[in-house]
Amino acid sequence: MNNFHEWLSKKQTLIESMLEKNLPESNHESDLNEAIRYSILNGGKRIRSTLVFAIAEIVEVDPIAIEKIVCAIEFLHAYSLVHDDMPCMDNDDLRRGKLSCHKKFGESTALLAGDALQSLAFSCLSCPSLPIKAEKRLEIIHIFSNAIGLKGMAKGQALDIKNTNKKITLNELKTMHQYKTGALINASCLMPLLASENNDTNMLNCIDAYSKSIGLIFQIKNDILDKEANKDLLGKTPGKDEKDNKSTFVSLLGIDESKKLAANYYENALASIQPLGGKADYLAGIAEFVMTRSY
Ligand code: IPE
Ligand code: IPE
Ligand code: MG
Ligand code: MG
Repeated sequence: MNNFHEWLSKKQTLIESMLEKNLPESNHESDLNEAIRYSILNGGKRIRSTLVFAIAEIVEVDPIAIEKIVCAIEFLHAYSLVHDDMPCMDNDDLRRGKLSCHKKFGESTALLAGDALQSLAFSCLSCPSLPIKAEKRLEIIHIFSNAIGLKGMAKGQALDIKNTNKKITLNELKTMHQYKTGALINASCLMPLLASENNDTNMLNCIDAYSKSIGLIFQIKNDILDKEANKDLLGKTPGKDEKDNKSTFVSLLGIDESKKLAANYYENALASIQPLGGKADYLAGIAEFVMTRSY
């Protein structure tokens, strides 16, 4: 595990170059192009796409398939953040340490940048150069579609809005986050697995369980950071959840219990991948990174 941070930093650099390569060219006459590039190339942690590489350390995945899956996930994630920050959603002025997309380019361009990023994600997965058989590719696109729409992220975002100014149960909160954040994290693990020739159902179950724990740790930590982190480090507006009366792990359980719950899910995540042995060390490293992240 000693070399995890070195590995992470190399993969993050590689992800940046893959994203740049798959984006529309810079065109200062097109606000849409600039808004798309601004929203992607602006310093995300790339956790979801790093999961793709960690899976590719366990099973063999073609490098072009890795690239297209990585770009689809990061484009989609960036779209979700652009729309999440808009005045009709969280109304946040800051993202990744810079003005949020609508603050920089205006609401209509931000809306369209999100739309275009979503279609760019599907363009990556349906790209003719992807060396994956048609049937498998459809399965990958199907998993991705479900993870981001009515059975995934969009549903979770709708629940987030519905649950604002409301007291909900812990189970309702977990359900909301499984959709809102967990579904895309789950798909980020399953898509590269499907892209490989590997058909080991036990492995799939281990990774599926791991990703579900990671999704919950990720959101618990997001809620804790909203309360505890400072603005410069976080790159977002802290205290926003409390101010907007959002239902979060922190509002429901308090900081200490939220940390305990995250620690439980961390143990679960490690236990899920234990049968995979040393090959899953990078997945374990990502679990620790998600637990200990400070922004
Ligand atoms: C933040 O995601 C939004 C959530 C889904 C909780 P990240 O913390 O992964 O954001 P970036 O990509 O690193 O900016
Ligand atoms: C964002 O969730 C989730 C998605 C974009 C799907 P939050 O609203 O809780 O995350 P931040 O704090 O704005 O990153
Ligand atoms: Mg939100
Ligand atoms: Mg938000």
